Amino acid sequence: MRQLVLELFFTITFSLMHVRGHIAPWHKGMYCLNGTTPDVDDQTTNEAVNPLYQLSREDWWFHHINKCDEFPPAPGDFLELPANGEFTVELAVNRAFTSLSFNGEHKATFADGQDHPGLGDRPSNGDTPPCIVEPNIHAQNESMAAGSAFAISYQSDLSKVTPENLVVFTVAYNTPWRLIATYSVPNLPACPPDGCICAWGWVPNGCGEPNMYMLGYKCKVTGMTGTAAVAPAKPASWCEDDPSKCTSGARQLIYWNQLEGNNIEVSGTDLAGDPRSPAYNTKLGFSNGAQTDIFLNPGSATQTSVIPGPSSTSPPTSDGLPALPESGAKSIRMGVAILPLCALVVSLGMVLTVL
Ligand SMILES: *[C@@H]1O[C@H](CO)[C@@H](O)[C@H](O)[C@H]1NC(C)=O
Ligand SMILES: *[C@@H]1O[C@H](CO)[C@@H](O)[C@H](O)[C@H]1NC(C)=O
Repeated sequence: MRQLVLELFFTITFSLMHVRGHIAPWHKGMYCLNGTTPDVDDQTTNEAVNPLYQLSREDWWFHHINKCDEFPPAPGDFLELPANGEFTVELAVNRAFTSLSFNGEHKATFADGQDHPGLGDRPSNGDTPPCIVEPNIHAQNESMAAGSAFAISYQSDLSKVTPENLVVFTVAYNTPWRLIATYSVPNLPACPPDGCICAWGWVPNGCGEPNMYMLGYKCKVTGMTGTAAVAPAKPASWCEDDPSKCTSGARQLIYWNQLEGNNIEVSGTDLAGDPRSPAYNTKLGFSNGAQTDIFLNPGSATQTSVIPGPSSTSPPTSDGLPALPESGAKSIRMGVAILPLCALVVSLGMVLTVL
């Protein structure tokens, strides 16, 4: 019995840690929005948020490790990219804390459904801020957040996407930080009729395992689209110390610290004296915002006007968050955390009965 109680304790602790997990950009156009159990719409899924570290090429590519790549969004749901505009996603540790679950009732300022006043502030004794673990955003404060990116491939079929045709088109410095993240779109040309494939990338800078993130989306360019096709992408290179070493033009996502398929290796320390960690920021020469240097000659694509669809991003504003009074929000958040626990306790009970 004692053994069992102990086991229960550890399982609960582990599953709570799991709820708090890591980060993904939530949007209707994402892969594995409903989780990775066929025909189940999991309102508290975190299948999409797990980082990728020391995996085979097959397993890390589009988060195949837990089959995220096999659960596309519902037909007609796209991450819409307004040419020369911007789009918004919600960077959260669990679907529960986004607009896509519980009518958005558990959203707050940060990724874990909490407001965390003063998060990242310098400690009153003047020490440098420590790594933040709740939420697990691998940074000490906003200025240390490494930056994240979206890339686009003009293929409608995920199996046709390659590192060379998946081009970084936007970067947001100092993300992930808050729940709401906005990315700018350059003058992208129109996608094929069945849409494009996009991917999100993030490589945290220290504060934990040196892993990376890659997650798939069905996406399409809307509005008055561009007249230049996107060029083939080359790997980015470390150039913090020497801008002449930066890769110019269309660049690939960062594939790092995997067993196979890496496109960058770094050694030594960065200018701040920390171990080098490649990132979507000045260290690899990525500018902030829309990447405007990724195109072939004007006229290499046909301009069209694409009307935004019903799945267009409804930009959640940062005002009006959270909707619930603090105490109410807290108890509901507890409820969310307790959901998986109840399932656990019930299944443990069932195992016991069988035994
Ligand atoms: C997710 O679940 C909802 C509700 O069952 C369903 O309408 C939607 O199509 C599902 N999405 C995917 C991508 O399977
Ligand atoms: C952010 O955190 C880093 C690392 O702890 C620290 O060096 C820097 O001074 C902090 N910035 C602010 C504005 O506190």
